[in-house]
Amino acid sequence: RALRWTWRLTYLSLLGGIAYVGYGIYQDRHPEPQADPDPSKKTLVILGTGWGSVSLLKNLDTENYNVVVISPRNYFLFTPLLPSCTTGTVEHRSIMEPIRSILLHKKAKVKFYEAEASSIDPDRKVVIIRDSSEIKGDMTETEVPYDMLVVGVGAENATFGIPGVREHSCFLKEIGDAQQIRKKIMDCVETAAFKDQTPAEIDRLLHMIVVGGGPTGVEFAGELQDFFEEDIRKLIPEISDRFRVTLIEALPNVLPSFSKQLIDYTESTFKEEKIDIRTKTMVKKVTDKTVEAEVTNPDGGKEHIVLPYGLLVWATGNAVRPVVRDLMSRIPAQKDSRRGLAVNEYLVVQGTRDIWAVGDCAVAGYAPTAQVASQEGNFLARLFNNMAKTEALEEKIRSLSSSLNLPTPPGGSSGDGGDGSGPLSAAEASRLIEEYERQLRRIKNIKPFHYSHQGSLAYIGSEKAVADVSWFNGNLATGGRLTFLFWRSAYLSMCFSTRNRLLVLNDWLKSKAFGRDVSRE
Ligand code: FAD
Ligand code: NAI
Repeated sequence: RALRWTWRLTYLSLLGGIAYVGYGIYQDRHPEPQADPDPSKKTLVILGTGWGSVSLLKNLDTENYNVVVISPRNYFLFTPLLPSCTTGTVEHRSIMEPIRSILLHKKAKVKFYEAEASSIDPDRKVVIIRDSSEIKGDMTETEVPYDMLVVGVGAENATFGIPGVREHSCFLKEIGDAQQIRKKIMDCVETAAFKDQTPAEIDRLLHMIVVGGGPTGVEFAGELQDFFEEDIRKLIPEISDRFRVTLIEALPNVLPSFSKQLIDYTESTFKEEKIDIRTKTMVKKVTDKTVEAEVTNPDGGKEHIVLPYGLLVWATGNAVRPVVRDLMSRIPAQKDSRRGLAVNEYLVVQGTRDIWAVGDCAVAGYAPTAQVASQEGNFLARLFNNMAKTEALEEKIRSLSSSLNLPTPPGGSSGDGGDGSGPLSAAEASRLIEEYERQLRRIKNIKPFHYSHQGSLAYIGSEKAVADVSWFNGNLATGGRLTFLFWRSAYLSMCFSTRNRLLVLNDWLKSKAFGRDVSRE
């Protein structure tokens, strides 16, 4: 009997899953007809198509504004699975969602320009945009005026001006970076396997160095070692003993934002995986074949080391983008801000009235993570939806008040009943005014932005992950294979669309069943 019930439950959950996926696909393929933009409404310009901007767009009622989106990238990128793209565990298109399909599902049409904002003029209220793509038309630079502006351009890679970094390393922020790394890993491997390659050169080519022991560096090092152990080693056994991954970190430990227990777990797992962790090691110079660093020894003494490498991945965090730096220099209130646009508790850029900032380019007192950026984007959507409702209600009250011959608020127009439904009795009009005022009080009372931390997750290789998650007002720190399953299910559920979810799931199954694709495109 118990078996029969288990079968029934399995069958039901399977049916539920299929219905959910089917509905997702149907919705994706059948968007509702969209309203045309209303020129009488305010123009809301959104810069960027990353976590902050897309969360805002997802929840914004686009009927309330003329929305214009500007970004050099015409897709949203699900960054948490980007390290998996460097080795082919996940294919890059599986974690990209075209912005045009996202916009097609909005109530009113939204304009999108694939361009880079090169500067923002807060006095004239215009954004100067430039076509930075390969193919250019006659028009390559122009201005977009705004009434309200949201800056969600993220950050660029920090190099701290260390010589040689820009010229010789790969970064890991964009899809192109992951593709370049994937190509270079296989190039190093095939070049090392070249006929009569010298032993010293084989060692150099197969030495992969990762600089930066934050979550990006750690996840990438884990993925790289998996790729080697699970695929390359079998396919090219003759070089299998020479492959090495070194993770360099300036601080005394990796993953500084995780709890001590998980730092220790990660470091011991890396040792088992034969990833060489070099902490208290600060990279000072990079050449085309070597990394030069200063090591602080336990006695406090300094040592200079030179490490030959085949592939170098630089993951030392974020720096401010030029367009943001330029905007900061135009706003006196931003003169003391160093890490990005200082915002108030409503995410308004300090020193301005109609510019908001979200995500990695905003300084709101939180870590630069997708979690923060998406909550900020959600908050702004609620704020803007409320602002539009407030304005509509105020207009209705003005119109009703004037129709009742009550003193009209400044700027009020003669009313026709407030909702265009024709003349109303005085009693009905007063009742409506009261009702609108009650609604107004409720929606005007929007609380400042408050970040709710759900926890941190990171993949550390060998099908293990670490998680610091909020649990009943406390914190749960856990690591291992079960956490890996949790990591996978959490990220699968967070993927942008049903299409992304199915593609990622398919990639995981494919790489498990057939191994990762080692062809060098
Ligand atoms: P982004 O998502 O970077 O988006 C910026 C957007 O602005 C892009 O569309 C870009 O094309 C556009 N843009 C750039 N310049 C201009 C310009 N001049 N004009 C107009 N548009 C412009 N965080 C987590 O919480 N969990 C994770 O697991 C996680 N994993 C990560 C893995 C990797 C490899 C990386 C690199 C980051 C990861 N993060 C993670 C951090 C997270 O991705 C960022 O904090 C998040 O992307 C920030 O969102 P954003 O909207 O500010 O910027
Ligand atoms: P990070 O800022 O978190 O870490 C960079 C590391 O590089 C630091 O530990 C720093 O000490 C080190 N470093 C800097 N200069 C160095 C040098 N010259 N030599 C050696 N080491 C040097 O950067 P990361 O990992 O790119 O992350 C950026 C943001 O994205 C963070 O907020 C992070 O939390 C988030 N993120 C979150 C992930 C997750 O939750 N799984 C995954 C990836 C990123």
